[in-house]
Amino acid sequence: MTRHFLDLMDYTNEEVYELIELGSMLKRADKLGACPPLLDGASLGMIFDEPSTRTRISFEVAMTKLGGHALYLRPGEIHLGTSETVKDTALVMSRLLDAIEIRSCADDEIVGLAADATIPVINGMGTYLHPCQCLCDLMTMSEHLPEGKALSDVTLVFVGDATIYENVGTALSHILPRLGAHFVYCAPEGYCADDDFYAPAYRACEEGGGTFEILHDPREAVRNADYIYSSVMWYDGFDSDREKRMHDFLPDYQINEELASCAPDHAMFMHYLPAQRGYEMSDGIMDHERSLLWDGAENRLYGEMAILVKLMYAARKRASEQVKDQQKALIETWIAENL
Ligand code: CP
Repeated sequence: MTRHFLDLMDYTNEEVYELIELGSMLKRADKLGACPPLLDGASLGMIFDEPSTRTRISFEVAMTKLGGHALYLRPGEIHLGTSETVKDTALVMSRLLDAIEIRSCADDEIVGLAADATIPVINGMGTYLHPCQCLCDLMTMSEHLPEGKALSDVTLVFVGDATIYENVGTALSHILPRLGAHFVYCAPEGYCADDDFYAPAYRACEEGGGTFEILHDPREAVRNADYIYSSVMWYDGFDSDREKRMHDFLPDYQINEELASCAPDHAMFMHYLPAQRGYEMSDGIMDHERSLLWDGAENRLYGEMAILVKLMYAARKRASEQVKDQQKALIETWIAENL
């Protein structure tokens, strides 16, 4: 059965650690200029119905570094969901490509594509989850662990919206407690969801021994933080809400020097980016010596290389040199005789 990458929770803890380790190995190899062409000749279709800097660049560069090729496909430029059903697009792309990455604001489009594709489908961000960002964040955290701690016992405090709109927060709130770690949402009153929404996070606590809690006082929330994570204060398409959200989030829910002074001295700062500088995070924190923002953006490349290798390497056909020579001779003979 085709394995997809729609939700990091579809992967066991052991597999998550393997992906992080593979990403680190590929990063080391790439820094030495020795990245092996593990996906030689493979093609990735990248569908984006929203803008992207990190996801688009990292997947395209990842394929190039691994010896493959990526195609940027925009709705409006392909027939997906318009003159062709999602199923038919899935069937066709499965014959032409080796994997598909899709960013869509319609989660059912991502799931629908995966249901009918016979090649791996990667969720490059939906409304509910952003599993690629989440995996790469875990990789960044693994590279910057507080002294004496493992990923399984860190505390991440996510300051911002704790509702369905925060797809990175949602993804991290599921995986961290399952790894045994501690996830804290710090959101203003009125920016939390119904209890049902947090059921997967509570289940993850039972499975992995971590904890999940929702607090409203930022100073209290960051008291034991190893990582303080920030997210955008308002979303594209929600511009009518912008004034209200700024009123509700500022100044208390901005990650700035004053809030950082309430956290342990080693606390590190994260943001999935793009950030609205000076709103959810001050300039000083974004550029702080303990800011992981730029390492995190760089790790999108290596985490995504690991996902691509995990999903595609085993399925790639690799002919022996003898078979390659035979096929070359057959085709060249035919060309000489017929063209
Ligand atoms: N964090 C993230 O997914 O960034 P992009 O929207 O630039 O891809």
